[in-house]
Amino acid sequence: MQKKNKKPFINYKNLENLNLSAINSKLKGKTSIPGDKSISQRALIIALISTGTTVIENILNSEDVQHTKKAVEMLGASIKTKEKGYILQVNGTGLGNFLSPVKPIYMGNSGTGTRLLIGLVAGSNATVTFYGDNSLSRRPMNRIIIPLEQMGAKFTCNKDFKLPITVTGALDNGFTLPINYKMPVPSAQVKSSIILAALTGRGNSVIIENKETRDNTESMLKHFGVEVKISKNKLNEKKITIGGVSHIGAKSINVPGDPSSAAFIVVAALITKNSEVVIEGIFYSKFRLKIFEVLKKMGANIEIIRKKNTQFCDIYVKYSKLKNVAINTNLNPSLIDEFPILSIAAANATGKMEMNSLGELRLKESDRLRAIYEGLNKCGVKATINNNDLIVYGSKNIVGNCTINSYQDHRIAMSFNILSLVTKKPILVIGNKSIKTSFPNFFDVLANLGVNVEKKHV
Ligand code: S3P
Repeated sequence: MQKKNKKPFINYKNLENLNLSAINSKLKGKTSIPGDKSISQRALIIALISTGTTVIENILNSEDVQHTKKAVEMLGASIKTKEKGYILQVNGTGLGNFLSPVKPIYMGNSGTGTRLLIGLVAGSNATVTFYGDNSLSRRPMNRIIIPLEQMGAKFTCNKDFKLPITVTGALDNGFTLPINYKMPVPSAQVKSSIILAALTGRGNSVIIENKETRDNTESMLKHFGVEVKISKNKLNEKKITIGGVSHIGAKSINVPGDPSSAAFIVVAALITKNSEVVIEGIFYSKFRLKIFEVLKKMGANIEIIRKKNTQFCDIYVKYSKLKNVAINTNLNPSLIDEFPILSIAAANATGKMEMNSLGELRLKESDRLRAIYEGLNKCGVKATINNNDLIVYGSKNIVGNCTINSYQDHRIAMSFNILSLVTKKPILVIGNKSIKTSFPNFFDVLANLGVNVEKKHV
């Protein structure tokens, strides 16, 4: 758990003044990683619609989760905070019965929190306005508005279908219509938004995924006793069937460590000579560990040991000589958050890595495809983009010695900080503050493993 790590010595008010380098250092030892962001957000959201007290342990205490927590409170949940925010006791409102907050709800940078909560409100009797920071305000919301309107929710927003958005739930108008929906793009956020609205539906809703995405919402609802039927249709696509329910009872949740955050530490250890690290208590999920399978194919010395009968695993990783491999586009949904750090691994491997059909990366917290391409070239690594296809060429003696704009995107900022561990001269990353959205003690974890965290010299 995050709180077991040594005392923080980084001044988090001043993340912009930090800079990593591995000069005379290697990563050695054991660490843990903060709770999974997807699970933490869903735990709060499903606790809101439950009756009774849900205890959430090891919840990620990051900005995205704090925004979702505040939103859930504004919708009527009462929350007690313990252990400096790592344990929450949530008393929910029950299904469909939210308060309509007078003030709009600010979601900061959190796409998951926003899309899931809009789905939840779409199946309620409340009217709520959501808004966010600049990055969230440029992200597409038509992908949830289209199905949720079909379910009876009403939306008011600008003509781009972007935040700020006001949603009035279908129950305000009578009832929530069930839906039969084939996902046009693979997206766990969109799927989850529809599933949450379907919980008040009059009859069964069916969602078809032709490329499977993370199943956190389905699994968590099952954990809370809700029937979610998973099957295959004639085309062998995943079929999720969910009916309206009258009541959800509270359940406790212990949030495992975030595999997407762990991936940054794993790649740091793989590319920094003489490193050897154990990361404990990571979420064991077939949808979330693909990055480690790809790295193993690249020659990485990684071992994943599952704790018997649990959803936790430990990851052992050692410095390794990497060679690039081809990435099958079928893996894209399971690597969706990992392409930035995978590109850093590719830059440090031999050969070239081709990653195709990455259009979805342009719609994340920043245009990640552009940010990766631009950043790598600036550091002296050859990378090319053709439409939505990226090629990264492995390089020796990467120069660095530049300033990288992370576009306030946490995963871009962390990726280039990790690259800075092996460049001839340090990379200065602008926008480190964004790291607080998902991995607030990123610099501490690295420092405790032996990395030099220096004050920036610009
Ligand atoms: C998430 C799903 C993914 C991912 C995001 C978290 C989730 O987004 O990129 O960081 O928790 O459901 P999409 O489902 O939009 O691809």
